[in-house]
Amino acid sequence: MKWNNLNLEWNSHIENEAEKQELAKKVASKVNDGDVIGFGSGSTSYIAIKEIAKKINNEKLNILAIPTSYEIKLLCDRLNIPTVTIMEYKPDWSFDGADEYNDKNWMIKGRGAAMFKEKLNIVSSNKVYILADNTKYVDRLGKNHSIPVECFPEAIKFVKKELEKLGANECNIRTGRGKDGPIITENNNLILDAKFNEINEKLEKDIKLIPGVIESGLFIGYNNVEILK
Ligand code: A5P
Repeated sequence: MKWNNLNLEWNSHIENEAEKQELAKKVASKVNDGDVIGFGSGSTSYIAIKEIAKKINNEKLNILAIPTSYEIKLLCDRLNIPTVTIMEYKPDWSFDGADEYNDKNWMIKGRGAAMFKEKLNIVSSNKVYILADNTKYVDRLGKNHSIPVECFPEAIKFVKKELEKLGANECNIRTGRGKDGPIITENNNLILDAKFNEINEKLEKDIKLIPGVIESGLFIGYNNVEILK
């Protein structure tokens, strides 16, 4: 027996919705019957998934989705898109949004706290389409966003100290709507938002080397990434 679906709509205003809708059409046109597709999180991915669902219905396609957050898993359930995990399937390709990208396709992601599973999909895919509206390009990575760093809760103070040693000039534990105190990620961890004035090509690896860091939202040198504009 199936549960009734939850009607979880996007819960805040979507910036640049018309442009995101155009990007959604572009990515939907890449969906083929039989594909296993990594589904990113965020408002752009949310719009793209609705567009993909229309194509699946119209063309009677069979695809499998690997969602990167509970909200995307629930959206897939509601749209009747079957989901699997990366434990069982390797994505043929993935798509996702980004918070910032620069002219080398380096990115900051994780405004929605989903960067751990997003990175797993991205590293597992031969091809990744990043759907980026015109607000996402920056001439200097880190200009508008801090780097989200997901950490094991008991390591939070150590990780903060190490991020400051790497050059973070502000490092705040993420709090937010709907919960008192720190945000707890889907993997039961905390997030430090670390602001860096300079991001060099070693920084993603340096952050990852800190004991207690689960993953960061910094993406440097992923050659499988194509930015769709
Ligand atoms: C989710 O954690 C993020 O990595 C999103 O992919 C990113 O924040 C883009 O979000 P929007 O599509 O809402 O701009």
